[in-house]
Amino acid sequence: KRIAIFASGSGSNAQKIMEHFKKHADAEVAIVLSNNPNSYVLQRADNFEIPSHVFDRFEFYKTDNIVTLLKKMEIDIIVLAGFVWLIPENLLKAFPNKIINIHPALLPKYGGKGMYGDNVHKAILANHESESGITIHFVNENFDDGEIIHQSRFKIEKGDDIEMIKFKGQQLEHLHYPKVVESLLKKMKSL
Ligand code: GRF
Repeated sequence: KRIAIFASGSGSNAQKIMEHFKKHADAEVAIVLSNNPNSYVLQRADNFEIPSHVFDRFEFYKTDNIVTLLKKMEIDIIVLAGFVWLIPENLLKAFPNKIINIHPALLPKYGGKGMYGDNVHKAILANHESESGITIHFVNENFDDGEIIHQSRFKIEKGDDIEMIKFKGQQLEHLHYPKVVESLLKKMKSL
């Protein structure tokens, strides 16, 4: 089974997934794609000797290049890991129920346009939430909106700041995302 990761930034989740599947006999990360030529995730892909592809808005939204590339590579699942652009219709249609995303909150709370990065944690803190968590979900044409596959929660203690909330969420993301990808791949008989 072959995995494609889309990421725009640091790629700590991508790292965990690359590590997990490096040791795995039946699945591998075949390619990392990014809209951001300066993203650290590209360095991480290099370190694992995994090929990468950087695209711009034109290529992503106005051509079929990415679909063609992923089909040619026989990709089974597309994993968004901190990828900040909406997925275009041609890609959604080419990979139905095969694109997943991770979000650092308990969706449907704190999701949608503008709810990414520190904005999420700031909003959670401002609302004095006593708990938060992470959500892994199928991707559709809206931000953070598809069917939920997995959620896990953590407590927010008095005195927790944005960094602490972010840290607690990331620990859960790193623990669960590789496992959820693996279990989805197991369920997928064929493309
Ligand atoms: C994660 O918190 C994820 O939930 C969100 O973007 C962040 C990506 O972090 N979608 P990283 O690049 O994997 O470190």
